[in-house]
Amino acid sequence: MKEILENIRHGRHEFEKTQLGGIECGEPFSLFEKWMIEAIEKEEKEPNSFALSTVDKESQATSRIVYLKDLLEGQFVFYTNYRSKKASDIEHNSKISMLFFWPAISRQIRIKGICTKLDAALSDAYFDSRSRSSQIGAWASNQSEELEDRNELEIRVREFESKFPSTVPRPQHWGGYQIRPTSFEFWQGRSSRLHDRLVFELCGNNWESHKKNP
Ligand SMILES: Cc1cc2nc3c(=O)[nH]c(=O)nc-3n(C[C@H](O)[C@H](O)[C@H](O)COP(=O)(O)O)c2cc1C
Repeated sequence: MKEILENIRHGRHEFEKTQLGGIECGEPFSLFEKWMIEAIEKEEKEPNSFALSTVDKESQATSRIVYLKDLLEGQFVFYTNYRSKKASDIEHNSKISMLFFWPAISRQIRIKGICTKLDAALSDAYFDSRSRSSQIGAWASNQSEELEDRNELEIRVREFESKFPSTVPRPQHWGGYQIRPTSFEFWQGRSSRLHDRLVFELCGNNWESHKKNP
C-alpha cells in the first residue's frame, strides 16, 4: 500500500466501471486496495485523504481530514500531533471511524476501528523521510491550540530552524497512529438510487460479509 500511495501519479490500471465485486474475496483489504488504485486512476484529487471521526469526553463527535500514509499488516497508518484535539479524543476513546469518499467513481468506504499509537521506530523512519520544512513545521505548530496571530507561528519556525541547523529530530509530540479495522462498508453508487453496499465485519479472527439495502 505504501508504494501505491507513493506512486499516486504514476500507476496504470483498468477501471471496471460500477462493479462492486469483492464479496468473493472473503476479506476487505484486497477490495480496499483495488478501490484505492481505481480512485488514483480516476485522478481523484486527494485519493488517500479520509475523514477521521473521534469522540471526546463529552461524547461529542468531531471529524477532520487526514492522509492515509500506509497500510501495515492490516492496520491503517496516519501521522499527526500527539497533543492535538484528535489525540486527546483517541486517548479517551480509541474507537474511531474513517471515511473515504471518491466522487469520480461514486464510491465511499466507511471503516470502524481501534486506534493506537504507532511504534516509535516507525514514526522516526517516516519523520526522517519528510522534507526539512515539514519537520520544522511539526516542531513549530502547537496543533489545535489557540494562535494569537500567524506571526507567532513564523517566529517559532525561525527559532526551530536555528535550533536544528542540520538534522531535525522527531518531536516526542509528533508521530503516527495505527487503526485496526473491525468493520468496513463499501458503497458503490448505481443508477436509480439502487446503490450497492457491502459490509465486512470482524467476528473473532474471521471476516463475515453481507450486502445491505441502499
Ligand atoms: C487534505 C488534508 C489533509 C490533511 N492531512 C492531515 C494529516 O495527515 N495529519 C494531520 O494531523 N492533519 C491533517 N490535516 C489537518 C486536519 O484536518 C486538522 O485540521 C488537524 O489535524 C487538527 O485537527 P484536530 O484539532 O481535530 O486534532 C489535513 C487537512 C486536509 C484538508
